[in-house]
Amino acid sequence: MRGKGTIDEEILRLLKDHPSSFLSGEEISRQMKVTRTAVWKRVKHLRSLGYEIEASTRTGYHLIRSPDLLTPSEVKPLLRTKWMGRIIHHFHSIDSTNLAAYQLALQGAEEGEIVIAESQKKGRGRLGRKWFSPPLSNLYVSIILRPRIPPHQASLITLMAAVATADAIQRFSGLQPLIKWPNDILLKDRKLAGLLNEIHSEMDRIHFIILGIGVNLNMGEKMFSKEIRDLATSLKREMGQPISRKAFLQALLQELETWYETFLEEGAAPVLKAWRERSQIQGRPVKVTSFGEVLVGTAIDVDSDGALILETKEGERKRVVAGDIEYRNIKA
Ligand code: BTN
Repeated sequence: MRGKGTIDEEILRLLKDHPSSFLSGEEISRQMKVTRTAVWKRVKHLRSLGYEIEASTRTGYHLIRSPDLLTPSEVKPLLRTKWMGRIIHHFHSIDSTNLAAYQLALQGAEEGEIVIAESQKKGRGRLGRKWFSPPLSNLYVSIILRPRIPPHQASLITLMAAVATADAIQRFSGLQPLIKWPNDILLKDRKLAGLLNEIHSEMDRIHFIILGIGVNLNMGEKMFSKEIRDLATSLKREMGQPISRKAFLQALLQELETWYETFLEEGAAPVLKAWRERSQIQGRPVKVTSFGEVLVGTAIDVDSDGALILETKEGERKRVVAGDIEYRNIKA
């Protein structure tokens, strides 16, 4: 039995196949093998989602305008990827796309399947934080990957995803985002996007990695809570114009697919090179908070496992695998 979501997708596909004419209710119901009343009910539902559909008992239905939703029928016609995002699990509201993707991967979902939500009730950030996920303004996406690499290389996938996200933002906007270790994406020192990647593995084999990416696209300044207003930004705020979320998603998936294939074919070197260029971290004075400990020193580099190499004031080199950094003023 087809779900209501699938019926909606099929109605939209038929209407989009007839951009300059009306399609009769009878024709739609015949092609879809549902009653005309069922068609009318789904059209009413689609209108409630923001689709402008002209309807007349004599001539039938005509799609005038689609909203900027991230449903398969809106996203797929724009996709230029070979395999990433070809299967889309879309939700209007969900706890967390990462959680849903994890469950789907456990049930056998394939590499490249993605989970998208218009809003998240329990959007998750790094280190147990929340990720503010209001409806229809931003991008919340989780991508299932099944790389055949040893688990200790999984952090390279995180570095790769940060580079791909920054490249997508630059390609889309012309602006030049920086990466802040481990994987915050900043524009003019404010956070624009964050990544939460989760891994399911054995000692010597990765079952899957979930790349969870949140990008602030159309958030107005006032939508940010007071605590983060000065620390966060959105692409709309930086570009001064509304952002098409589906066009941005296409750009992001394209960069991710290309970078992931580069990593699998050429290894860590190109990823690390691009990450270093984007982070400009080498030689910067930083304060690092890691597992409750505060370390102050100079960032030397990231190693091939994605760990931060820090030189303390005493000249001791430390390897930091998780935490947050703050850039310090040179004079501080
Ligand atoms: C961070 O703390 O910087 C990471 C934020 C990651 C947010 C994204 S939104 C899509 C995916 N689903 C989640 O629950 N979290 C990630």
